[in-house]
Amino acid sequence: MTRITETSDQWWKTAVIYCLDVETFLDSDGDGVGDIAGLVERIDYLAELGVTCLWLMPFYPTPDRDDGYDVMDFYGVDQRLGNHGDVVELIRTAKDRGMRVITDLLINHTSDQHPWFKASRKSKDNPFRDYYVWRSDTPPDTSDMAVFPDKEDGIWTYDERTEEWYLHHFYSHQPDLNVANPKVRDEIMKVIGFWLELGIDGFRVDAVPFFLEDVGMSGQDADAMAEPHDHLKNIRAFLSRRRGDAILLGEVNVPHEEQVKYFADGQQLHMMFDFVTMQKLYLSLARADAGPLTEALLARPQIPEDCQWATFVRNHDELTLDKLTEEERQEVFAAFGPEERMQLYGRGLKRRVPPMVDGDPRRVRLVYSLLFSLPGTPSLFYGEEIGMGEDLEAEGRMAVRTPMQWSPEKNGGFSTAPPSKLVARPVPDGYGPQFVNAWDQMRDHDSLWNFVRHLVQIYRSHPELGRGSFQVLDQPHPEVLAHCVTWEDRIVVAVHNLSGDAHAVPLRLDIPGGSVLESLLSREEHETDDDGAVQLDLDGYGYRWFHVHPPHKLRLP
Ligand code: GLC
Repeated sequence: MTRITETSDQWWKTAVIYCLDVETFLDSDGDGVGDIAGLVERIDYLAELGVTCLWLMPFYPTPDRDDGYDVMDFYGVDQRLGNHGDVVELIRTAKDRGMRVITDLLINHTSDQHPWFKASRKSKDNPFRDYYVWRSDTPPDTSDMAVFPDKEDGIWTYDERTEEWYLHHFYSHQPDLNVANPKVRDEIMKVIGFWLELGIDGFRVDAVPFFLEDVGMSGQDADAMAEPHDHLKNIRAFLSRRRGDAILLGEVNVPHEEQVKYFADGQQLHMMFDFVTMQKLYLSLARADAGPLTEALLARPQIPEDCQWATFVRNHDELTLDKLTEEERQEVFAAFGPEERMQLYGRGLKRRVPPMVDGDPRRVRLVYSLLFSLPGTPSLFYGEEIGMGEDLEAEGRMAVRTPMQWSPEKNGGFSTAPPSKLVARPVPDGYGPQFVNAWDQMRDHDSLWNFVRHLVQIYRSHPELGRGSFQVLDQPHPEVLAHCVTWEDRIVVAVHNLSGDAHAVPLRLDIPGGSVLESLLSREEHETDDDGAVQLDLDGYGYRWFHVHPPHKLRLP
């Protein structure tokens, strides 16, 4: 028997995460800006899709120069979106529908409008001076370290008033916090404690390597920070003391082997996004060759039992391809974003999946079938479930942060405001609300929405997908990925064809002859022969999932 109770204990290992920005989800009061009250109206939509964990992008007070990732007050709520009362109503309603809520935690930097930074830049002896990282000597050329090379030419900016330079890995209006300063670390703990107390279930931790690996430390604090990872360990310990089931899901875009340090025997991050596998997936799709994806999955380091990979195919930033070689990146660009206006920072794409694959429904579904069948916890970015496109005319990463498309009505049902007042315009072209929207798709049995919902259901009722051990199954076609995941006595087998040509896929499974492979997506069944062999036929871009019944034993589900 499986230890099914573990799935509620480590809920995040079989969760379905859904990331959204309150600002672009639903506007309840017609001012053109999405708000928390609007989101609450749509909690049932998310529950119906099967989402179990909402990830809210930053909703804190902000000058909004990095879409809210520039925070002015870690304890506040952006007035345009609502207030603390609305946050509490949201959390309660989400919980009632079986959904947890996590939120972005920004502890690498603040906005330059944060009162700490305003004080820090006043004078060298201001009590807040050491909340940030200052240097008095001229910095070297750091142009290759700027995260946004289109806007910044380095990571140090000169401040006239005190004639020193401050550190910022991101925009110059986002000064990096000096996490070596114990006072800053105390402040961070208080912020975590505050949101936990309101009922938040954990955090998506922004930009982790920047404040751990590349800490710029001032003076005596450098010694105090001999072990930067202790900072993350302390955060984890604090979080777990306050709320045993709360999680830290880290944004750590570094090579697989380096990610191990951040899991650290289960004492730092619970989960990390698997950026490498995501990038190799696109390379595989571009080449119609399962090789790169398979290699990435097999090269995933072993991680402690208490840790988990979060899988995704799209997030709110550029679709980064920074971990591919230059040649590989150019291959993906050529396949999925050949024009310069589709690319960003020389390393990523501005696009969403459906336009990248020319709207081919077989390929769109193949991508989501992979997302939900590969080992890990799937994370969706809003609008993926209905196949939204992007607005290439929007500035940079804003291309994929367009309003959620609820219906074919005005403004896609997002807001009743005049279009000129909208926080962002809806996608203008063939992927616009008239053609792509939740209302139509929820009524259409064959829609992408219903397909994704079905995948979510299967994923949730087959915890081996989130928890199981992964194995690639031998078969002769390089275009095909055949894999199985096993947890205790439960097995799911999945086959995916990354090419447009049909293939017959012979498999030999390490299970008793006479076992039945029952399809999870349709009504077919196959029985293994005495050697555990079976043949599965795949159409071009086809995919099939099965769970396995041992001989003469039915399985539910
Ligand atoms: C992370 C966020 C990104 C933001 C940056 C600075 O990379 O994902 O959206 O701009 O951090 O906070």
